Amino acid sequence: FNVPTPLNEPVKGYAPDSPERLELVKMLKELKRQERDIPMHIGGQEVRTGRRLPLHPPHDHQHVLAHFHEGDAGHVTQAIDAALAARPAWAALPWEHRAAIFLKAADLLAGPYRARLNAATMLGQSKNAFQAEIDAACELIDFFRFNVAFMQELYGQQPISSPGIWNRLEHRPLEGFVFALTPFNFTSIAGNLPTSAALMGNVVVWKPAYPQIYSAQVLMELFKEAGLPDGVINLIYVDGPVAGDVIFKHRDFAGIHFTGSTKVFQTIWQEIGQNISRYKSYPRIVGETGGKDFILAHPSAHAKAVATAITRGAFEYQGQKCSAASRVYLPSNLADEILGYVKEDLATVKMGDVEDFGNFVNAVITEVSFDKLARYIDGAHADPDAEVVAGGTYDKTKGYFVAPTVIVARDPKYVTMCDELFGPVVTVHVYDAEQFEATLDLVDGTSPYALTGAVFAQDRYAIDLASQRLVNAAGNFYINDKPTGAVVGQQPFGGARASGTNDKAGSILNLLRWVSPRAIKETF
Ligand code: NAD
Ligand code: ALA
Repeated sequence: FNVPTPLNEPVKGYAPDSPERLELVKMLKELKRQERDIPMHIGGQEVRTGRRLPLHPPHDHQHVLAHFHEGDAGHVTQAIDAALAARPAWAALPWEHRAAIFLKAADLLAGPYRARLNAATMLGQSKNAFQAEIDAACELIDFFRFNVAFMQELYGQQPISSPGIWNRLEHRPLEGFVFALTPFNFTSIAGNLPTSAALMGNVVVWKPAYPQIYSAQVLMELFKEAGLPDGVINLIYVDGPVAGDVIFKHRDFAGIHFTGSTKVFQTIWQEIGQNISRYKSYPRIVGETGGKDFILAHPSAHAKAVATAITRGAFEYQGQKCSAASRVYLPSNLADEILGYVKEDLATVKMGDVEDFGNFVNAVITEVSFDKLARYIDGAHADPDAEVVAGGTYDKTKGYFVAPTVIVARDPKYVTMCDELFGPVVTVHVYDAEQFEATLDLVDGTSPYALTGAVFAQDRYAIDLASQRLVNAAGNFYINDKPTGAVVGQQPFGGARASGTNDKAGSILNLLRWVSPRAIKETF
């Protein structure tokens, strides 16, 4: 069995009247007609608790898409028990069989599941068709296919032997269960966190963020159809702290695969620390967390390229990518020109429902997020040291709509240059074009995060200087490109400092965290 060399899944264009567009439109209509009743999935059983909570599209919050069944602490225990019951058979299954399941999942998603998962992501998480396609379809297909290839590579990494001595490494799954705790903003991340651990022979309890439940349900159906045995991944809808309270006290807790905010990850780490003596093994703690991602333009930068990077990097998916640009440093010689292009771009951008394929911007995820963004925008309007030069309006009558907003701040440490807002708001600081070196220190020192960052320059010395001085400022560093849109297998993704443990999703480094190798020496 030789794993095929993976190629990145081509992105479909969704041009008017294209077959993929017609299929997607049909699927959106079909999903909107149904009001689904969404159970949890424990040990292969659908679990309905009777405590039904509604799911609404963020761009149309009066519409009910579905109801899901919320569980409690007892269901968390059931999910752990189901995972542990499935463990012996799953851990003993030869890796080729696990590979076959996830390669089949990739093919199903590239084919019959593509429209359904994209449509569910569009409706549940308010992503436009292009953003859903690069996330729910392409990135997740890539995660499945590349992870299988990385698994084969990892298993092939063996120590040297010598005459009469045979040394080998056995890449055992972790002894216990893995907890996958996933965010709302990427269906691909929600799909990857439980499956990358499962691929390595682990059993998983998976708790998604509530706004992602609508697409999580489709993912679970996909895993089942691909042949994933019952109990290997158990999907529960339980309040985060309630789930954590059971899981982090359990003796068989073997690791957490987390993506979400820095604050939640730190709380979790403390809980794990408090319970450390309970566990059979030291748990793996893998977390990708927040960001305050930057774009820095050098005086030699190409002005139009910087402007495009700002419009796309800050406002695609309403700025709710962990990688989204949210603080920008422009040199005084180019600032007016760049901001002029950004304003021109934004004047053509449409905002609204996901079903109108012309809308570049859709709604932010929840009312809590909307209200938080509105407070920051109001603060900027009222502050004489900040100027709102584009957008600055919001409306939640039908959906949680926040116009793409550009704030220019005199103070490089202005509040919106520092806080993670997680929405379509970008703050620009204009620096003296003679002060590029000092600005590098500012970029490095302003934020505790280090997820993504981009430097624009045509001067090679400036590119080299920025690469060196910002060596720890971003786990994904872009030169003359926007800081979003990492592709599996090409730019392994993850940040350090307050942005995470930097175990690079979609790489062999990440899979290494889900095995506990045994070194075996045999003499003969
Ligand atoms: P979040 O931290 O609010 O939630 C993440 C998950 O943790 C959810 O499933 C949530 O229900 C759960 N949770 C919340 N509090 C908990 C607790 N006390 N105990 C146990 N579980 C708890 O994050 P979100 O709003 O879903 O996602 C946005 C955040 O994720 C942003 O900060 C963003 O930067 C980050 N993110 C990072 C990356 C990355 O790769 N670094 C990728 C995507 C998102
Ligand atoms: N792959 C996503 C991005 O880089 C996280 O934007």
